[in-house]
Amino acid sequence: MEEQRIASFPFVPTNDLPPVVERAEGCTLYFADGRDVLDAGGGAVAVNIGHGRTEVADAVAEATRRVSYVLPPWVTEERIALVELLRSRWLPSALTRVGFTSGGSESVDTAVRLALAHFAALGKPERRKVIGREASYHGLTMTALAISGHQSRRSTFEHVLADHPKMPVDDAEGLEKLLWDEGPETVAAVIAEPVVGATAGALVPSDGWWSDVRTLCDQHGVLLITDEVMTGFGRTGRQFGIDHWEVVPDIMVGGKGLSGGYAPLGGVFTTDEVVAPIAAQGEGLMFFTYSAHSAACAAGIAALKILEDEDLVVASATKGADLLERLRRLEGHYAVREVRGLGLMIGIELVAGMSGDIDGPGARPGAKVVAEALRRGVWVYPAGDGNVPDALLVGPPFTITDVEMDRLVQVVAESISAVYGD
Ligand SMILES: Cc1ncc(COP(=O)(O)O)c(C=O)c1O
Repeated sequence: MEEQRIASFPFVPTNDLPPVVERAEGCTLYFADGRDVLDAGGGAVAVNIGHGRTEVADAVAEATRRVSYVLPPWVTEERIALVELLRSRWLPSALTRVGFTSGGSESVDTAVRLALAHFAALGKPERRKVIGREASYHGLTMTALAISGHQSRRSTFEHVLADHPKMPVDDAEGLEKLLWDEGPETVAAVIAEPVVGATAGALVPSDGWWSDVRTLCDQHGVLLITDEVMTGFGRTGRQFGIDHWEVVPDIMVGGKGLSGGYAPLGGVFTTDEVVAPIAAQGEGLMFFTYSAHSAACAAGIAALKILEDEDLVVASATKGADLLERLRRLEGHYAVREVRGLGLMIGIELVAGMSGDIDGPGARPGAKVVAEALRRGVWVYPAGDGNVPDALLVGPPFTITDVEMDRLVQVVAESISAVYGD
C-alpha cells in the first residue's frame, strides 16, 4: 500500500508511518515491511492468551454463522454461556448481574450510570458524585474521562468535563477527608484501578489501602467500583487485581483480557442489591447497539477457556515474578527510578524531564525509549502522567517464553541506554 494512504489513517498524522501488521502468532507481530516484533505490551495490555488462536477465530466464525446480530436485551447461546462461565468460575459470588459492552470506556460509563440510577431509584438523586483517583485512567467517554485523573488525556476537554472529586493515590485518610469535605450524602461511588495502569506504570497500592477504601465506602453508604479493564482476567497473576486484597466491590468493570483482544468486549458485573431498586421501579439501563454482541461473547468464552485450560493465570503470576526480577536489574541504570508490578503487569518508571541533557523539563524520553525498542523489534506500552511523567508498561501475553523474556529485557535495557546514555 502506498505510504501516503497509510499516513492518512490516524486522525492526527505524525511523521512516523503507523506499522502495517500482516499477521500475528503467539507473542509475535509480523509487520508488512518484513520485521518481527515481540508484542511485550500485549497491544494495549489486552492480549493475554497470545495471538493467532484458531479456537477463538473458529468460535467467532461459528457464532457469526448462526446469528449475526440480535437486539441487545435479547439473548443468544453465546451470551448465556459467557454469563454462566463468568458467574461459575470467575466472578466473586456476590457479583451475580452481568452486562456486556464493546470495551472498557463503555463499561466504565455503564458502571457510573448504574450507580447513579441506583441512588436515583432510592430517592437519593443528590448522590451524584463519583470519586476518582488523582492518578487514574478509566477511558475516553466524557464521563470516563471526567472521573479519570489522567491530566494529559483530560487537558483539551477540561472545560466541559463534569466535576467529580479526586482522592489521593494511596492515602485512605485523604479519601476520608474528601468524603467529609464533599458531604458523603452527595457521593454515589468511589472508583479505582486495583493497580494503576497507563497513568502511573503499574503502581501497586500499599497493603491496607483497598480494605480501608472498602470500609469507608460501607461507612458512608457509597458504592465501590473497581476498574479491572487492565488488571482483570489474570493480568496481575490472580483472576482479578482486587483479589490480591480480598476485597469485593459493588460493581466491577472489565474489558481488554475478557476477550484477550480477539473482539471488542467489555463487561459490567454487579450485585442484586445494586440492581434491585432500579428493577423495582420497572426501569432498565439503555443498551448500546453492540452490547453483548454474540460474536464478541463467543470470543470471550473461547479466551476464558484457554486461560483456564492452560492455567494461564498461574503462568501470569509465576512468569511475572520471574520477569519482574529480571527487569529489576534495570534499576542499576540512573534513568530507571523503579521497576514494579504484579503478575505480567510490570511498570518501569523512568526519570523524566529532569535531565536537561535529554530534552529538558517536560520532555518525554519514555516515548523515545518505546520508539527505540520498537526499532529493535520489541513493543512496550508507553505510560505515565502527572507525578509519574514517564514510564513503560510491560504486559505481554501470558504465553511468553523464557527466550522471549530474555530478548525483552535485553532490548529494553539497550533502548534505555540508547536514549539516556549509559
Ligand atoms: C483501567 C482502564 N480503564 C478503562 C480503560 C478504557 O478502556 P477502552 O480503551 O477499552 O475503552 C482502559 C484502557 O486502557 C484502562 O486501562
